[in-house]
Amino acid sequence: MTLIPVCPVEDLPDGSRKIVNVQDTPILVLNADGSFYAIEATCPHQQGPLGQGIVLPKLEAKFIKPGKRVDEYFSETSLTISCPWHGWEFDLSTGAHCGDADVTLSTFEVVQKDGELFLDSP
Ligand code: FES
Repeated sequence: MTLIPVCPVEDLPDGSRKIVNVQDTPILVLNADGSFYAIEATCPHQQGPLGQGIVLPKLEAKFIKPGKRVDEYFSETSLTISCPWHGWEFDLSTGAHCGDADVTLSTFEVVQKDGELFLDSP
């Protein structure tokens, strides 16, 4: 485990975000309602600025069979980030594309230690 420094906790208040480079890969670190997330900041579609994307609750649906949706609702526990170029959406916690299980971005655990934020790199 390697801890990569981000910034003091107080420098990333609720609703704010910051880009940190990890081995030349830009990583978005953000604070959403007091929870910290870290995900690759570049969209795998056409290299769009995912780190500038809007963060919203994940839209979930209940199906009774493939293609037969009976309910849609916004998650109370999962957040997504949408690429501002063409709208690809990713789960902030897992990095998984919301519509294509074969597309996943790297995520990092954000660790608070002695008033500082770090990315936990394997
Ligand atoms: S570049 Fe991100 S959705 Fe196209």
